[in-house]
Amino acid sequence: MDNRPIGFLDSGVGGLTVVRELMRQLPHEEIVYIGDSARAPYGPRPAEQIREYTWELVQFLVTKNVKMIVFACNTATAVAWEEVKAKLDIPVLGVILPGASSAIKASKSGKIGVLGTAMTIQSDIYREKIQALSPDTEVTSLACPKFVPLVESNNYQSSLAKKVVYETLRSLKGSVDTVVLGCTHYPLLRPIIQNVLGQDVTLIDSGAECARDISVLLNYFEINHSRTGNQPQHFFYTTASPAAFREIAENWLGKDIQVEHVTL
Ligand code: DGL
Repeated sequence: MDNRPIGFLDSGVGGLTVVRELMRQLPHEEIVYIGDSARAPYGPRPAEQIREYTWELVQFLVTKNVKMIVFACNTATAVAWEEVKAKLDIPVLGVILPGASSAIKASKSGKIGVLGTAMTIQSDIYREKIQALSPDTEVTSLACPKFVPLVESNNYQSSLAKKVVYETLRSLKGSVDTVVLGCTHYPLLRPIIQNVLGQDVTLIDSGAECARDISVLLNYFEINHSRTGNQPQHFFYTTASPAAFREIAENWLGKDIQVEHVTL
């Protein structure tokens, strides 16, 4: 048993899609979340800068005495997960492997689409991980650089969002039966994405898949929360405006939360 919190990091509000799933699957676990909205999006930034920012987020979470760190960000996972995992003595989990294996399981045609930030797509990590497990699978990757700003600005249900998603994804329509939402911000756009791609396409939420792996790791290391019966206390931090973060977070999580500003 270990009652310390689980640490989550993301460039902004995207990691909340992992948090919502974790709260559903493991309601006793406590959460410390840091979103770097002041410097989002990470996707178009050079790898060296993403690595530097990610280490700052990791160090912040370490000061909060977390028992595990979840990279609730595909871009940070693509760039820095391996090296952070190698250096820390607590478990560090990324979102890419769980998403890749779920997509293989879901696809009947062996044709998978991957949506992600410029850096995630440029790294080609999803293709690599999918084809390492299933060499005959065809992977079509598409960078969607306009999606994250729509979510960070709380415009993810707007008519602009519908237009942008349609224009970005229409070339993919009909060519794949499974699509990985390879950025944790994208599940907020899920209804629009599903509408554009068609109801027969299976969407894989890489973050939600990751929540199951968190559960497996907690069991493996025997570090589950002891379920004291008290309501779990969660802490959310943002490098930008707490009010803007809270609005998106409370809407998405369906509960009131406390958000503090932090300077890294
Ligand atoms: N939510 C992130 C991801 O999963 C990063 C988005 C961004 O800042 O570009 O890739």
